[in-house]
Amino acid sequence: PAAIKAKILNLEPYRGKRVRIFGWVHRLRSQKDIIFLVLRDGTGYLQTILSGVPAQTYAALTLTLESTVELVGTLQPTPEGKTAPGGHELVVDFWRTIGAAPGGDDAFTNRLNEKSDPSILADLRHLVLRGENASSVLRLRSATLSAFRATYAEQHLLEVTPPCLVQTQVEGGATLFKLNYYGQPAFLTQSSQLYLETCLPSLGDVFCVQESFRAENSHTRRHLSEYTHLEAELAFITFDDLMNHIEAIICEVVDKLWKNESTAALIQQLNPSFAPPARPFMRLTYVDAIAWLNEHGIEHEAEDAQGNVITDAEGKPKMVPHVVGDDIAEAAERKMTDAIGTPIFLHSFPAGLKAFYMKKVPGNGGGDQPAAIALTESCDLLMPGVGEIVGGSMRISDIDELLEGYKREGIDPAPYYWFTDQRKYGTCEHGGYGLGIERFLAWLAKRYTIRECTLYPRWPGRATP
Ligand code: 4AD
Ligand code: MG
Repeated sequence: PAAIKAKILNLEPYRGKRVRIFGWVHRLRSQKDIIFLVLRDGTGYLQTILSGVPAQTYAALTLTLESTVELVGTLQPTPEGKTAPGGHELVVDFWRTIGAAPGGDDAFTNRLNEKSDPSILADLRHLVLRGENASSVLRLRSATLSAFRATYAEQHLLEVTPPCLVQTQVEGGATLFKLNYYGQPAFLTQSSQLYLETCLPSLGDVFCVQESFRAENSHTRRHLSEYTHLEAELAFITFDDLMNHIEAIICEVVDKLWKNESTAALIQQLNPSFAPPARPFMRLTYVDAIAWLNEHGIEHEAEDAQGNVITDAEGKPKMVPHVVGDDIAEAAERKMTDAIGTPIFLHSFPAGLKAFYMKKVPGNGGGDQPAAIALTESCDLLMPGVGEIVGGSMRISDIDELLEGYKREGIDPAPYYWFTDQRKYGTCEHGGYGLGIERFLAWLAKRYTIRECTLYPRWPGRATP
């Protein structure tokens, strides 16, 4: 009988029928004159059996791992006592190699695994993607972006697409990628926040999913030079509303992924001990966090006035306790988050550590207080295993206070005229946040580094493939 062309994902209705499937040879094993071949077509994996093949013919078939093949056969339920993806297997009666892969000693098909040299894995990322874990992370990433979009739609936030090419900075000049833009200076965007703020009077609450770029010369597990930044901005809210909203969105997204059978299976495959976080999330002020670090003996590297690490005679960094005003560095933040073991909203950071646009805590930080003590309505959401996955704040709504902020940071207000105008033409209390999609995924799928959570990661020195 004629065979029906099908994808592995949708085979269920074709039990007992003849089907034709195209794909890649994912696994290959031969036993006497039977070949067991696991076929991969991007939608799933299928156990197939090619029988009646004498060993010498098998060798002549050019069947190698990663070759593309066409297989035609009858779909049978998996015999009792055996398991196979989908609960069925294909008994093949016709096959054809479409594009052979090198096989034999080939480095990728035979020698590459997750323990291989990271720089080889990075060079061969285009082939690594074919692996079960790498493809599962990307599948989960796709579902995660869909879940965020669905959740925002339910809460009436509108999606916009701000530009990547900009002439203003958001998170400090030190991490800007500078470009020659038709003879003018321009940058790759660090955050779409300022643009989202301009959408409030036009579209109401908004969000975007946009690449952000950071020229951060840090080779850490959680820094990329380009990452996918999910940002949202909300009008007429309080700081408390903002934290409640972030918590609700994250929990709703996790709930959607966890209730869906196929995404829950991906999460369990990648992170077997995953459990959705309990609500409400713990809230900890920055000042209390400094006290917590000191009570638990977590110190940080001492720096001189120029920001260079002070070392002893053996070159070991000098460790010192934290004081209010210190940035909580990645290592200390990670130790604290892992010790507490639950999501934490770390909030109310000193103005001196934060960007020019952040609103001060009312009655605490106005006037002549030094920036190290003036607190802001800012929050970071920290997750076990990763640390900061969200950074958010209330924004300055008063025009004079904003002009002060530019001055404090040494920013020329001229290119920001359109941002300043938001305070001139009907200002409002508003706030928002940015979430790094790769960091969210590293937490959800328990990946060692966020480099595993994007298609082609970029970090200092790496922009290939
Ligand atoms: O804390 P950040 O720098 O905050 C902002 O950019 C705000 N303007 C966002 C806003 O309020 N709309 O970045 C936000 C998040 C971080 O919490 C982190 O998850 C992620 O973006 N992120 C990075 N992810 C990967 N690599 C990097 N180099 C990142 N820098 C920030
Ligand atoms: Mg941050």
